[in-house]
This record gives sequence, C-alpha cells and structure tokens, in this order.
Amino acid sequence: MHHFAYRNGVLHAEDVPLDALAREVGTPFYVYSASTLERHYKVFDAAFSGHDHMICYAVKANSNQAVLKLLGDLGAGADIVSGGELKRALVAGIPGERIVFSGVGKRDEEMRAALAAGIRCFNVESVPELRRLSEVAAGMGRIAPVSLRVNPDVDAGTHEKINTGRKADKFGIPFGEAGEVYALAASLPGVEARGVDMHIGSQITELAPFERAFARMARLIEALRAAGHGIHHADLGGGLGAPYHGDNDIPPHPDEYAAMVERTLGHLGLSYIIEPGRVIAGNAGALIGRVIFVKETDGKTFVIADLGMNDLIRPTLYEAFHHVRPVREPAAGAEMIEADVVGPVCETGDYMARGRMIPKPERGDLLAVMTAGAYGAVQAGTYNTRPLVPEVLVKEDKFAVVRPRMEAEQIIALDRLAPWQE
Ligand code: LLP
Repeated sequence: MHHFAYRNGVLHAEDVPLDALAREVGTPFYVYSASTLERHYKVFDAAFSGHDHMICYAVKANSNQAVLKLLGDLGAGADIVSGGELKRALVAGIPGERIVFSGVGKRDEEMRAALAAGIRCFNVESVPELRRLSEVAAGMGRIAPVSLRVNPDVDAGTHEKINTGRKADKFGIPFGEAGEVYALAASLPGVEARGVDMHIGSQITELAPFERAFARMARLIEALRAAGHGIHHADLGGGLGAPYHGDNDIPPHPDEYAAMVERTLGHLGLSYIIEPGRVIAGNAGALIGRVIFVKETDGKTFVIADLGMNDLIRPTLYEAFHHVRPVREPAAGAEMIEADVVGPVCETGDYMARGRMIPKPERGDLLAVMTAGAYGAVQAGTYNTRPLVPEVLVKEDKFAVVRPRMEAEQIIALDRLAPWQE
C-alpha cells in the first residue's frame, strides 16, 4: 500500500500533484511519502506486537535525516553499517540503545564511536572481528554487547548480488563453527554475547528461505543455551521484499512473516531485533524525471530522459524492475509503444527500463520511476559530473525539500590542483 495515485489526470504523492512539484524543484528529483513510510513502519511493528521486539530500520536503504527522524519518532531503532550511518542515526535523534551495528569490516574508530554511543549490539561477522572488538572495548574499559552473525547456508532465492546467507558469501560465521566462536566470545574480556544474528539477503519474496534459516537459528540457540550461553535476543536481519511489480506479485505481508517467526522461534522466549529496510522505504518513494528526446531508430524507440544510472543504479546493477509511469495520466486507449527508457549517461547500461510497453511520451513529459524509495538516492553518484538530485518529503498537501539539489560547482570544488600545478 502506498500513497502515489492518479487524481484529476495527474500522478500525486499524497495530495501533492507531481507536475506542480516538478515545476517547483526542477527535475530529476526523488519524492517520498511520509504517510507511506509511517504506515509501513506501523504495519511491521504491529505484526510483532504480541512479542518483545525492536525494529532497527536498515539505515542504508534510505538515510535522509528527514526519513530517519520520521521513523525514529515512531520508535524505530537503526541498523547501521558504518561510522557515517552511526552519526546519521544519532543526529536524527535515534538513541544508542536502539542501534545495532552490522557489517563485515568495522574499523577500530567505528567500533570506538559505537561503544561511546552505547549501542545495543554489535553484529560480529568473524573471529578476527570478535578478537579486535574485545581489544578495542577492553582498551576503553568497556564490554561490547555482541551477537554473532551466523551464516545458515541458505539460498534466499534473490538476485546474486544481494543473496548473503550461502556459505560461499562473505557474510557471517559458518554455521558449524558457531558453537566454538561463542565459546571464544565467553573467554574474551571485552565482549559479551547476548544474541544470535542472521541476515540471508534482500528482496526476498517467499517465506520458505527465511523459515529454513530461522529453524536453523532455533536449533543453534537451543544448543548454545545448553552449553551455558545466555542468549537473550534473535536478530532476524531484514530482507522482506517490496512489491516492485505492483498488484501482480506481492511479497508476503509482515503479518505472515511475523507468524512464521513465531512458528520457528516463538518457543524460545527471545526478544526479536528486526532490520527491515526496503519493505519500509521501497514503495514510499519515486524518482521523477523529464523526457528530453524521443529517438526513433530502425525498429527501436529510445525515450531519453534526464534520469541517469548515477541517479538510480538498480536497473543496471541488479537487473531490477521498476514501473515507469507517465505523470500525466494517459487517456483511455492512448497509443502504447515498446521503448527503452534511457538516460544521458554515456554507457549502454544507463537505463531505467528496457523493452517496456509504455504510453507514447513526448519531449517534455514527466515520468515517475516507482518504488525508488529504498536503495535509490543512497546509491546515487555524480558520474558524468551529474549533481546529486533533490529529495522531497511530502505529507498530505505539504512538501519540503529535505535535500537540496547539488550544483556542479560543489562537485568541482572538492578537487584540488597539485601544488606544482598552481
Ligand atoms: N540488515 C543487514 C545486515 C543488511 O545487510 C541489509 C541489507 C538489511 C538489514 C536490510 O535489508 P532489506 O530489508 O532492505 O532487504 N542495494 C541493494 C540491496 C542491498 C541490501 C544490503 N543489505 C538493492 O538495491 O537491491
């Protein structure tokens, strides 16, 4: 469920018409619906209401301060993967005790900053990391709360680049070694194991892989407890998919996901930490651009818009599908064409959609690339010296530019000449 719909012939974000917004802020821009973000958070939270839990929103999905503030105010914690994300979460007012720190390559200064902030838990991914964290914490006179991220060797059935729970993936401690590593943790002075963590991948559209992983987790927790380890929480990671295809292909509802968690882990009396990103932010956002040219070649049509792979890299990086909708609602019976919707970046991989049936657009028309609220703006870059585009938050009939458009001069000003060139 989201708040993007045609009204009076124009695509709206909540009560804001996107053509008017485009006139106001220029194109391209990202637009987020506050009500959708809020609704998704509440639906997810309600799904777990029968059980002690904390939702640590995966900041990497969309880390705009306005988004973090909105979710933090609703009670969300944060799953972070860098010192930068730690700062973002803290600045947005999310307290340390609601923050968990994931990722395979935490540096000393990031560990120190997280310890100083008093975070809830470090999700530790290897023996060298566990040893180093213990040293860093002990050096500060602290004991770091940890979960070990265990790799369950489960195929999440998602795109190769975001499938993380198979044994050949770089993530987590091999399932068979988990017992030994918990024993090691118990012997180290600067860490204390509190929980078990898993994250098997992203854009997962079936419950079965989760269920396999969590069943393994349940067995592991029983064994760890039998060995005398106090395991208080299960961090379930994120991964639940967003409905990129609209109504045709809807991933499991958070209620079904929560019921499955309860089925597999409910008997253990754990508290749950959940790290959803995409399911909260995905269809709360769209990327809006304008058609520059419509180019017809021998048998092919290219709709060339001002939307580049630097603005949204998902189609080319993950062969991801995003609906591309005209902002002006097409008349019934409007001419449909098959087209590649491409950008101005000088690469063949620069596209939003390929071989897509769309209502025939004209130069100047506005297009909306849907379900772009997660892993959109955060993965944008300035390739071809294309400045980062604005982000706009809409709430009912109000809108606010929550990140202004960058100017090319700001990019250039980051460079310096070598002293001998001056
Ligand atoms: N927790 C951990 C440890 C993660 O690595 C991730 C995502 C999440 C939670 C949140 O997963 P979600 O609920 O959003 O699926 N850029 C890619 C997705 C990368 C996901 C990385 N990890 C994309 O655009 O598809």
